[in-house]
Formats: sequence, structure tokens, C-alpha cells
Amino acid sequence: MKKKIIAYNRVETPVLEDLQKKYDVYFYKNIDTKTDPLFLEHLSEAQGIIGLELEVDKELLEHAPHLEIVSNVSVGHNNLDMEQLTERGIMATNTPDVLTDTVADTVFGLLISTARRIPELDQLVKNGEWKTEAIEPEYFGTDVHHKKLGIIGMGRIGQAIAQRAHFGFDMDILYHSRTRKPDVEEKFSATYCTLDELLSESDFICLITPLTPETEGMIGKREFQLMKKSGIFINGSRGKTIVEQDLIDALKTSEIAAAGLDVFEKEPVNAINPLLQMKNVVTTPHIGSSTYETELKMSELAAHNLEAGLNGRKPPNLIDE
Ligand code: DGY
Repeated sequence: MKKKIIAYNRVETPVLEDLQKKYDVYFYKNIDTKTDPLFLEHLSEAQGIIGLELEVDKELLEHAPHLEIVSNVSVGHNNLDMEQLTERGIMATNTPDVLTDTVADTVFGLLISTARRIPELDQLVKNGEWKTEAIEPEYFGTDVHHKKLGIIGMGRIGQAIAQRAHFGFDMDILYHSRTRKPDVEEKFSATYCTLDELLSESDFICLITPLTPETEGMIGKREFQLMKKSGIFINGSRGKTIVEQDLIDALKTSEIAAAGLDVFEKEPVNAINPLLQMKNVVTTPHIGSSTYETELKMSELAAHNLEAGLNGRKPPNLIDE
């Protein structure tokens, strides 16, 4: 008998079609996973889950007595209750490496767009508001090259950001992470420092740490106050690693100059969120890893992990916590 799989939110079509040849696949998108009766029925028979941002908690697991593996199509796995999964002997996997450069490109894109005010000036040109041959100084941006960049979280993505900053933009790099990384320090002339030093000395601050109980809300009022008034803050991690209301306040009171955000406390972001009204905030809808090439690679890797687990082999990207 074929094994049963729940596919959720995002599995790229060629990968989904391949899985459909070998398994009974139930594909769901944007449903209420707590109450949808058909979803809960399929879940009660499923051996595998593959997908993006499905909240796998105690409540969901109570409906999944046959589950063997949850394969995330993402590197972040804050959607998984690892304690519950481990207790039940259910494997969990993610998709590191294949998205590293793409996320670093997104973060760097946000950094440049925010510093040089690209979306705001794009609107100005398109609205027919470019009236003088020489643009007025009120529209000038700030340089990126040769500035000081603080990176919070020096994992794979943090290092890919450091590579771009060091070799492409001659930036001076400070970093803060759980452990010191001498090889990174040597490769990118990066300096390890305390979080407070990083916050107060950097011109740009990139937050790229995973969301865990330790990092939740790690950047709030006190941290924004420590930043330079000219400081530009970029969040490429998860919305909940910061206290969003404190960011709103810091921008309103000019405690910091601008922000570039790919992630929000609540996603999709609420249309009345004050951040969306601010010209000095550049946003993207959590697309850090979302290019055609990388999404396909992530789906392929997630399917590979899923199939290994379902066939009694150790998945290559087993989350080991
Ligand atoms: C990831 O892989 O964690 C990306 O942020 C997509 O969720």
C-alpha cells in the first residue's frame, strides 16, 4: 500500500508530481489546519508531511498517530515543536545550504534599497515628481561601501552576507553569535564583539539569527536605543526575533534612520501596520529564499529528506536538537 503524505503550502510542481507517482499526496494551501475536517482526516492517516510553515504542535500531532517524518521546505524550523516530535519519535528535517546565497542576496538587496532609498525614489520617478534636472539633496541616500556592518548570527547566511560586504563593498564587519568563529574573522577581517558593542558601533545592522526561545524578542527598545541615530536595521530572520512595536517607536522617534524588513511579527503583515506607512521602511513579503532556482532546490531537498525517512534511511538534514 502507498504511504500517505500531506504537502502543505509550498512544494514546487515537478517535485510534487514526482511524489504523486510514489505516494498518496494530499496538497493543502492556506487552510485552517486546526479545524479543516478533510485535512484532519488525511493527517490522521499520513506517514509524512512536507511543506512550509505548517505549525506542528502538540494539538496537530494528536491528530497524526502514524506520522514518521516532518520535512520542512525551509531552513527555519520555528514552526516545529521539537520536544513533542522527539517524544513521539518523529523525525524532522529542514533545507539548509541550498538557500544560503539567495537569502544573503535578499538581505543585501534590502540593505542597498534602504540605504539608497530605491523604492521611494522609484515611486517619485513613476509619479512624475522628478521636476528638477538635479535631484534635490532631500532625496540623497547614504553610502553602503566602506561603512561598518554588524551581523547578528554568523551561521551560513551570516557568512554569505559577510562575504558580499567584505569583498564587494569593502565594509568593516562586526559580528555577534553564540560562538566565536576564528576562520570567519580571518576570511572577512571580521571582529567579534558583544551585542551592545555591535549595536552602538554599526552603521548597518543585519539580524539573521534563527528564531528560538533564546532569540525571541532579542532586539527591542533598549537595543534600538543603543543603535546610531543614522543606523539602518535589516531583518532577514523571523519577525518575532524583534519587538515590532519597539521598532515602530524607534523609527517614529528617529532613534534609528531606516529599516529593511523581509519578515514580520504576523504574516501576512496587517495592512494597517504603521511600518507600511513609513517611507524609510523597505519591505518584502518574506521572500528571502524565494527565487525560481532556490525554491526548486529546496523542494527537491525536502523531498529527498522525506523519502529517506519514509524508507528507513537517515535523512541528510535531520534536525538534531
Ligand atoms: C527559510 O527557509 O527559513 C526561509 O525563511 C523561508 O521560510
